[in-house]
Amino acid sequence: MTSSIKAQVLKTAVLGLGRIAWYFHVPQIISHPRFELAAVVEPLPERLREAAEKFRPGACFATCEEMYAKLKPDLVVVASPTSFHRQQVLQAFEMGCDVFCDKPLTLSLGETDEIVEAMHRYGRKLMVYQPHRVTAEASAIKHILSVGLLGKIYLIRHSVASFNRRSDWQAFRKNGGGMLNNYGAHFIDQLLYLNQSKFRKICCELRTVATLGDAEDVVKAVITAENGVILDLDINMAAAHEVSPWYIAGSCGSAVFDSERQEWNLRYFDPAELARINPQEGLAAANRTYGSGETIPWKTKVIANKDFSDIDFYEKCLEYFSGGCPPFVPVDETREVMRAIDECRRNAE
Ligand SMILES: NC(=O)c1ccc[n+]([C@@H]2O[C@H](COP(=O)([O-])OP(=O)(O)OC[C@H]3O[C@@H](n4cnc5c(N)ncnc54)[C@H](O)[C@@H]3O)[C@@H](O)[C@H]2O)c1
Repeated sequence: MTSSIKAQVLKTAVLGLGRIAWYFHVPQIISHPRFELAAVVEPLPERLREAAEKFRPGACFATCEEMYAKLKPDLVVVASPTSFHRQQVLQAFEMGCDVFCDKPLTLSLGETDEIVEAMHRYGRKLMVYQPHRVTAEASAIKHILSVGLLGKIYLIRHSVASFNRRSDWQAFRKNGGGMLNNYGAHFIDQLLYLNQSKFRKICCELRTVATLGDAEDVVKAVITAENGVILDLDINMAAAHEVSPWYIAGSCGSAVFDSERQEWNLRYFDPAELARINPQEGLAAANRTYGSGETIPWKTKVIANKDFSDIDFYEKCLEYFSGGCPPFVPVDETREVMRAIDECRRNAE
């Protein structure tokens, strides 16, 4: 390996060793030749001991201050509970580090603006981990939207349903918990990303039903995008039945996702094949019939989700943090997600 390539190995610190860090970030960093796990920060002593047994003991710290006193990472991965993100991101910038932060970036749009301002002031890089942009499902939807078989798209509905009596920190408002901050940060980002347009208005309802905490576990948000598309998001953690996760509708047809078969079913027509129908005159429906009686020349198409694959997010990190590529998740798109979350909360009140 030449020294110039070696210099591009990113010395990375991970803050928080919980679910997302332990099962995703840490294994990704350890297995990637261009990332080095330089440090971990975790307040729980037993987790620190576990990490010390697995990694270099000198690389495990109980606080960020102790870590920065010993080393300056190139990249800080913030995977602590959301209420710590603002302070830890700002501190990383001050220490001269770039930041890869787990979603949601912060607890509010105001905090996000503070971070964006600091990012520019310190000349640092920032990207948020939004894994639902890189799933096979997301790639399949991008394909369906791009081929144009459904005509002009007017609705994209995403529904997530399960039953979960949540009891961890994410069940409580004081911790920045609740399904709007949690899954909402994923799926609002995903819908805005797929639709490639900012939002114009939002109607939202929040309910607290099955959770053992006080934060919402049911979110219904109808987001009208600037390009006119309705983005309809249902997050329901108090649901006895599963629901179809995707429904995409356009002027010439629709697509639904069969999650059992992992297939997209498209039903659509070619507008050139529709019969010519003249609007009726007068106020008496002809022949006392409903509808025009025409037969729509429906076509069907099945698209297998397995024809699309997940994209490796850490490769996207490398391109941005180590190379000269633009961020895969630009910070203004993260700001738009935070603006939407704020607006959902305001509207629901
Ligand atoms: N992108 C994703 O798919 C995804 C998935 C899960 C969680 N998340 C996000 O990641 C963050 C962490 O969530 P989680 O589910 O892993 O939480 P968790 O409860 O599993 O783990 C949090 C860890 O952070 C530690 N911690 C507490 N205070 C800390 C501090 N001040 N500094 C450093 N570490 C601290 C805790 O001891 C614990 O080990 C949240 O913001 C959450 O929204 C993202």
